[in-house]
Amino acid sequence: MLASVLSYGLQGIEGYPMQVEVDCREGGMPSFETVGLPGAAVKESRERVRSALLNSGLRFPYGPTTVNLAPADVRKEGPRYDLPIALGLLAASKQLPPEALRGLLVLGELSLDGRLRPITGVLPMLIRARADGVTRALLPLENAGEAACLEGMQAYGAESIGQAVAFLRGETAIEPVPVQDYEHLLRQTPASVDLAQVRGQYAAKRALEIAASGGHNLLLIGPPGSGKTLLARCLPGILPAMGFEEALETTRIHSAAGSREGLVTQRPFRAPHHTASAAALVGGGRDAMPGEISKAHNGVLFLDELPEFPRTVLEALRQPMEDGVVRVARVGAQCEYPARFSLVCAMNPCACGDYGSRVKACRCTPLAIERYLARVSGPLLDRIDLIVEMDFVPAEEALRQRAPGESSAEVRRRVERARALAAERYRGTGIYANAHLSGAQLEEHCALDEEGRRFLQAAMGRMKLSMRAYTRVLKLARTLADMEGEKKIGAGHVAEALSYRGTGDKYWKG
Ligand SMILES: Nc1ncnc2c1ncn2[C@@H]1O[C@H](COP(=O)(O)OP(=O)(O)OP(=O)(O)O)[C@@H](O)[C@H]1O
Ligand SMILES: [Mg+2]
Repeated sequence: MLASVLSYGLQGIEGYPMQVEVDCREGGMPSFETVGLPGAAVKESRERVRSALLNSGLRFPYGPTTVNLAPADVRKEGPRYDLPIALGLLAASKQLPPEALRGLLVLGELSLDGRLRPITGVLPMLIRARADGVTRALLPLENAGEAACLEGMQAYGAESIGQAVAFLRGETAIEPVPVQDYEHLLRQTPASVDLAQVRGQYAAKRALEIAASGGHNLLLIGPPGSGKTLLARCLPGILPAMGFEEALETTRIHSAAGSREGLVTQRPFRAPHHTASAAALVGGGRDAMPGEISKAHNGVLFLDELPEFPRTVLEALRQPMEDGVVRVARVGAQCEYPARFSLVCAMNPCACGDYGSRVKACRCTPLAIERYLARVSGPLLDRIDLIVEMDFVPAEEALRQRAPGESSAEVRRRVERARALAAERYRGTGIYANAHLSGAQLEEHCALDEEGRRFLQAAMGRMKLSMRAYTRVLKLARTLADMEGEKKIGAGHVAEALSYRGTGDKYWKG
């Protein structure tokens, strides 16, 4: 008898529908064949399914059996088809009424004793399925929570194949996962170091606020102990809340990377160590998983001690920083992961760390300083909108300041106001922040007033800005205008935006 079970596959972070067809014949030589481009883990499914069924008091059909995974032209990876294959076998051998499976999406890995194990990438598959009109899904219990952010999808979580079968036979009930109040979760205050703890460093704090307001890239440069790491760690606390669509987009990536936490409600803040490999950072490798830069999508990628990262790793960031997506190759296919993050870096300006400090004296030779700075390439620097110097605040001076600085909560309110202006401007375009504007959209959204235009023109010639630098300055000036609630960009905004490039020139161009 023939049975068919609806399942879904995953390519990058896109789900696609897949039919698991099972044909079992009673009598004849026992055989078991899986067709439709199964990968190794899918081929091994037979052994897991056999043990799971037998250990759950169910029958494993012994006649000639064929399992077909359609469409046949896409390679199927991973153990997520164990459950649909097992249920297909049961329906084809008349142990389950076939109508129980109609319209039901089934996913899950089996362990030998019949328990269901969680799988990766459930959310993107469910989102696609819901768009395709599927309304019911049967999943491992540990994955069912991921459906809590999807209205219109009833997700049933089962602990074992035994429980799944009893449910499908109508012998036990399983309650679908309740939909959560995500709006409330999205409004929660993120846990982070509070800005009020950072004494002095007003220029750097301002730059941090600008980066948060427009999604810009930021480099903090200064001597050891000046508070670069501390300040960067304050960023999560002032980033604006994500909207639901942004949160869903972020979660799809984390789900594909193996997280089962459900909706990601806070903007990611990823801080990989400089010993991380290029594959861990950018993505790819044997299993073609999303890397740190994709996990930082809609949030922040923090590279502390920037010059310590291998050159090859830093260079690999250049293409995704430009495109907002990263393409990773894998056997037989190529997948694309979103990677639109704001890059925040911290570094010392030289090996001893004190070059440029007004408080301490540097002990490095000019050549050594040049070599140290050259570890960060020009093209990478060109992509950084805000370069800020931090100097060491002497303790006696820091302690003299009695009044605590502004709290993260206060700054975050301002950041959200600036972002709301941008969001209003970009409504319906899929853009959420000024840093994401593409060249074609610049003219429409970054109107300068007369004085601003003249100022920018003069500066372009004087500073020999590249075209990329020019667009970046313009976007940054847009954010500065938004922070003041101004519709048009003025000369003051342009001047401040240019000053952050000037700081970079001081170190890298002498
Ligand atoms: N402006 C400041 N206000 C309050 N604490 C500070 C400030 N600057 C530094 N500190 C304290 O000094 C310590 C060192 O700061 P931090 O680790 O941020 O320095 P850093 O600039 O990252 O140094 P390194 O270059 O060595 O990485 C931290 O524990 C922090 O609490
Ligand atoms: Mg540090």
